[in-house]
Amino acid sequence: MRNFISHRVQSVPPSGIRRFFDIVATMKDVISLGIGEPDFVTPEPILKAGMASLHRGETGYTSNSGILELRQAVSRNLKRLYDVDYDPETEILITVGVSEALYLALTALLDPGDEVIVPQPCFVAYTAEVTFAGGVPVTIGTRVEDNFQVTAEAIESKITPKTKALLIGYPNNPTGAVMSRENLAQIGQLAEQYDLLVISDEIYDRLVYDGAHVCFSALPGMHPRTILLSGFSKDYAMTGWRLGYAAAPPEILAAMRKVHQYTIMSAPTTAQTAALEALQRGEGPVEAMRQEYDRRRRLIVRGLNEIGLKTFEPQGAFYAFPSIDVSGMTDEEFAERLLNEEQVAVVPGNAFGAGGEGYVRCSYATAYEKIEQALERMHRFLRRHG
Ligand SMILES: Cc1ncc(COP(=O)(O)O)c(C=O)c1O
Repeated sequence: MRNFISHRVQSVPPSGIRRFFDIVATMKDVISLGIGEPDFVTPEPILKAGMASLHRGETGYTSNSGILELRQAVSRNLKRLYDVDYDPETEILITVGVSEALYLALTALLDPGDEVIVPQPCFVAYTAEVTFAGGVPVTIGTRVEDNFQVTAEAIESKITPKTKALLIGYPNNPTGAVMSRENLAQIGQLAEQYDLLVISDEIYDRLVYDGAHVCFSALPGMHPRTILLSGFSKDYAMTGWRLGYAAAPPEILAAMRKVHQYTIMSAPTTAQTAALEALQRGEGPVEAMRQEYDRRRRLIVRGLNEIGLKTFEPQGAFYAFPSIDVSGMTDEEFAERLLNEEQVAVVPGNAFGAGGEGYVRCSYATAYEKIEQALERMHRFLRRHG
């Protein structure tokens, strides 16, 4: 038989993270700092709202765009937090996580060969999704010297007549970097100068520890040029509910809705009702989780630096990104040997693309005591190999 798989799909390698976790799944007594999701269960009032919705018999589809009340709550929330205005009727779409929202944005925007500039290290799906949508990802490695913030200069050097959009994700997975208002404003100027769109994945917006999150579309002139993606997975510990949203100008949102209508119909109904509760009464739990992440963040950053792994101070999300240079190993080798010798799972930095080599991602979305034990094991490992 011939090979039926499209060149587009064949050209994308399987996720480096998956391969690693297939190995972890077969091992005992592993402390995993590899997981990219909250270790908290969804807060009780949100769970109850989901269950009540089921018990009321709300088991059908919702409107394609999502429950209007939820879109109104998303709109109010964005106004309250960032003073941005989005019309719930025409500018907000409820999706199956940011994952779907990203797929919709890229499918709605890209013609074959259109280029999307993607600063890395970044969430593993970005470049793959650009390729699936027929576009060409153009990557830029960010550097610890710039606090892992992408610079306008680096972006400008990659702009060609085929560039259609930039895809940025801050607070960043895997570095924990947050962009300064000045740097974002410079990117905004470039977007205007070269007539580009900016897809801004702000899924970790509520998990910021120093300073405040800057919403890209709140910058002067950026509302018409931004596709804002966010959701409930990380801030509200709701990864399994699969719920997110996109906020964008009406004509772009309408194009995304068209793709959504034909591929998904509507996001999960139970999750939408639960998310409404999250927005209406979730502030307390969000803040409690943020504070606990912050306590763990201080432990892990101090601990990694003390055992000799130079670690950039992450300001958002729930990842530390230490350099493993002192070990003399590649990041893949480091992660594999650490797993085999000390049963600690971390993710090799090169899984996140350019600029990730020589680093590993350690998630602190795991219990404080487990992080302490992991640090002890890593210390032992480095005494042997440092
Ligand atoms: C930066 C970033 N964006 C998007 C996602 C996917 O989010 P969702 O669960 O909303 O699809 C993740 C998950 O790890 C992520 O880290």
